[in-house]
Amino acid sequence: MKVSGKHYRTIWMDSETGEVSMIDQNALPFAFEVFKAKNYQDTCHAIRTMITRGAGAIGAAAGFAMVQAFLEGAKGEGRRAKADDYTSEQLYFFNQARKEIEATRPTARNLFYATERVFSAGLISVENAVREAQLLADQNITDAKLIGEHGSKIVQNGSRILTHCNAGWLGFVDYGSALAPLYIAKEQGKEFFVYADETRPRNQGARLTAWELQNGGIPHKIVPDNAGAYLVSKGMVDFVIVGADRIAANGDTANKIGTFEKAIVAKEFGIPFYVAVPFSTIDFSLMDGSQIPIEERSEDEVLYYSGPDSEGVMRTIRMASPGSNALNPAFDVTPAKFITGFITEKGIIKPDELDKFSADKPLKH
Ligand code: MRU
Repeated sequence: MKVSGKHYRTIWMDSETGEVSMIDQNALPFAFEVFKAKNYQDTCHAIRTMITRGAGAIGAAAGFAMVQAFLEGAKGEGRRAKADDYTSEQLYFFNQARKEIEATRPTARNLFYATERVFSAGLISVENAVREAQLLADQNITDAKLIGEHGSKIVQNGSRILTHCNAGWLGFVDYGSALAPLYIAKEQGKEFFVYADETRPRNQGARLTAWELQNGGIPHKIVPDNAGAYLVSKGMVDFVIVGADRIAANGDTANKIGTFEKAIVAKEFGIPFYVAVPFSTIDFSLMDGSQIPIEERSEDEVLYYSGPDSEGVMRTIRMASPGSNALNPAFDVTPAKFITGFITEKGIIKPDELDKFSADKPLKH
């Protein structure tokens, strides 16, 4: 995406130094800053604290973090280190680093997909790990663009679309998943309108999706999370489109908390509910959604709110009754029966047809 006329990926790695740069999603929409992670611990910190976030971006970050771990473990050898040179201590270090990276965001399937691929590549040579991680980031863009092309067919002139959280450019390396069809439809000259759920508690919709849509010149309004049933019941929405963090083999879909409610509303009022997702988010090792691990995050995300005051100074304020605690599950699972179709890089697929593709992606963790 272009920001102030310059094209950016949301995350990228310098193949020589291993330094990972990422657009700081905690600073947005109030400031556009690039966070630099010098080693895999920095990148883990960035994933955990959501400096980078969203299924595809987390996947790219995890792949790059794995490379950084290989570079660190290979010491002076750097990119030249090969499997034959690895000592048992080094192999232990690589394994431990992989575990640390995988512990950062447990629901995100793309994270495990990436560590698996880059770890296996790194067991041949560090150079190979670098190549694999860059390939994964490039693939992330190719998949997202194809999702955009397939998905643009459901966007009509005049469509009114509801989306939840941020499954846009910021959630991938480029284009996004749920927002990719909208960006491509816009390029095709279509005119449509988007309702962006604010997406409590971290407000990825109000902050990130709204910022992206504004930047992309797409007309939109931010709506409270609990407005979905009202909007849909009043006939103000033609379809819902969301991304996903992990999908089980039967199509049950984990996405940002609150997604399930939108799916129930869509079904009740007979409008389509689409999930836009690359195959790398599908976990064919899980039979159904009950097996998807759901990340629980700090209660502070619910109890406090941060943003700039009228002078532009960042403030954090408590917004809940003092003394009360909060529960903060980050995701919910929408059963496959609520999903009209998965918009993927291979086309739009019905939930009961997903398993036909399972042989294409045999990777497990
Ligand atoms: O906790 P986050 O912001 O990483 O949430 C994940 C998501 O971005 C969403 O669930 C999104 O809708 C799908 S992933 C692009």
